[in-house]
Amino acid sequence: MDERIITNIELDEDKDMSIRPTSLDDYVGQSEIKENLRVFIKSSIMRGEALDHILLYGPPGLGKTTLAYIIANELGSNIKTASGPSIEKAGDLAAILSTLEEKDVLFIDEIHRMPRYIEEILYPAMEDYSLDIIIGSEGSSRNIKINLPKFTLVGATTRAGDLSSPLRDRFGIISKLNYYTEDELYKIIKRTSKVLDTPITDDAARELAKRSRGTPRIANRLFKRIRDFALVEGDGIIDEKILSSSLERLKVDKIGLDETDYNLLLAIIERFNGGPVGIDALASSIGEESSTIEDVYEPYLLQHGFLKRTARGRVVTDKTYEYLGITNR
Ligand SMILES: Nc1ncnc2c1ncn2[C@@H]1O[C@H](COP(=O)(O)OP(=O)(O)OP(=O)(O)O)[C@@H](O)[C@H]1O
Ligand SMILES: [Mg+2]
Repeated sequence: MDERIITNIELDEDKDMSIRPTSLDDYVGQSEIKENLRVFIKSSIMRGEALDHILLYGPPGLGKTTLAYIIANELGSNIKTASGPSIEKAGDLAAILSTLEEKDVLFIDEIHRMPRYIEEILYPAMEDYSLDIIIGSEGSSRNIKINLPKFTLVGATTRAGDLSSPLRDRFGIISKLNYYTEDELYKIIKRTSKVLDTPITDDAARELAKRSRGTPRIANRLFKRIRDFALVEGDGIIDEKILSSSLERLKVDKIGLDETDYNLLLAIIERFNGGPVGIDALASSIGEESSTIEDVYEPYLLQHGFLKRTARGRVVTDKTYEYLGITNR
């Protein structure tokens, strides 16, 4: 995978933990989720019980991991983390579960990528805080049941639809994260500017908010690159001039579409006659993974009406032709 600036995939931003808000008060936007969580967390503390299991879903970079850490923080609990694809064997999950203490948060990222037989071990763990495992080898094997401390599972996924329904049903709280508004991104950008000690003018912050695809991760990543241009080629302050010249060089357009978005839309128009085209054919024609298109690029293009999904595949819309200035169809 190349290192496109707008790539909305977790790479190294977490080294900059300071940018990441650590409390619900600092977490910008998603107000409905936030206010509900405030109540659920408070109630669980009042009852002295573990918080119900929580499923967070939505496109990458909207703050699922951040929110999982905040939940643990607000509960005053420890957080243990794992990711779906890394749990391959029953023993892997048992090992993780056995490290849990009362009221701990277990965060499983990409939970939709957990093998189905692992899910089945998770069901009783979630429901009755018990672990049913088979020990010994064939012939002399036996089932044992281990009681687990009462913990809270926080699962994150970009694809809630890929979760089996028995697993989904075991989450007491299911929250969908939405793209951020320009005002919310503006606040996040101003906060990042403070944390990174790099001034940005209000106008520039507004403009960057418009061009961040509704996604905090992209806003922060672009901020850091623009900071580089401001430092090396300007006076260290991000104003509209340095912002627009930087974004031009980074190939981010006025509504935040990047080269891959353009390649994708143009491929549908030029090679597939505007669609419909299946996701795999589209992916191979622009040299991307189907899953990257589905998880990272498509949601934003769909939301903004540049793309439609039909039973026979993806199609572009009148708005796409208009936006790209293509008149001869
Ligand atoms: N509500 C928010 N307020 C302020 N900053 C945020 C918010 N949400 C996310 N961020 C910033 O965006 C970055 C990306 O967020 P995060 O890693 O939590 O996304 P994610 O949803 O877990 O993405 P993925 O699906 O790729 O795992 C974080 O490092 C954080 O700095
Ligand atoms: Mg994450």
